[in-house]
Amino acid sequence: MTKTTSDRAAVLRILRVNSSARFEESTSRALADDLVAALEARYRKVAIVDRDLAGGIAFVDEGWVGANFTAAATRDEEQRKKLASSDELVAELQAADVIVIGMPVYNFSIPATLKAWIDMVARAGLTFRYTEDGPLGLLEKKKVYLAIASGGVPIDSPADFATPYLRHVLRFIGIDDVDVFAADQINRLGEEAIESARLKIADAIHAGPALRVNAA
Ligand SMILES: Cc1cc2nc3c(=O)[nH]c(=O)nc-3n(C[C@H](O)[C@H](O)[C@H](O)COP(=O)(O)O)c2cc1C
Repeated sequence: MTKTTSDRAAVLRILRVNSSARFEESTSRALADDLVAALEARYRKVAIVDRDLAGGIAFVDEGWVGANFTAAATRDEEQRKKLASSDELVAELQAADVIVIGMPVYNFSIPATLKAWIDMVARAGLTFRYTEDGPLGLLEKKKVYLAIASGGVPIDSPADFATPYLRHVLRFIGIDDVDVFAADQINRLGEEAIESARLKIADAIHAGPALRVNAA
């Protein structure tokens, strides 16, 4: 069945990207789930795509670089295959209205899987392009909710290389509307940190300004 524009326009398309290596005990996953549940409650019609990075993700390698820097029209079969999973990740991102990212702080930065995801979606000509004035992000009108968990590092402190980096690279591909919900310093604050993030999520989604739903 072909969906009409108005059908599509009514559906909030959510991409949930999780990067914790843990499942049952993961705080960042729980917060990402809270965000998605709150979005479902508010917008009713949502389409959710899950991209779980815990199972592994391809790294940039020599063949990938060669394929990526070959013009799309002249790529051979092997090069197209090499880029297939990266193309899929880019398409998921392009299709989303909202991206919910669950991110633990690992060794003061983002998990390696999330970095690998960024390497796969930061694609010249697809998610950014070079202009005379410098690089220009090509993803438009998207919102990111970032659910962060940390053991000891206070978010946005000098020891937090995760949040500023992620904000920077998201801006690079065109996404500057990023709301951060952090259960940080869990080692010291325990449940209090998690509860505080949960309350902020409930508040922001239920009472915050309505999100744009982009017609495809
Ligand atoms: C490999 C690894 C490295 C970590 N490095 C840091 C760190 O540098 N700073 C920090 O505050 N917490 C660090 N932690 C603690 C996690 O950020 C914390 O346990 C968080 O809750 C993990 O997210 P999750 O609950 O979603 O799995 C680390 C945890 C692991 C497993």
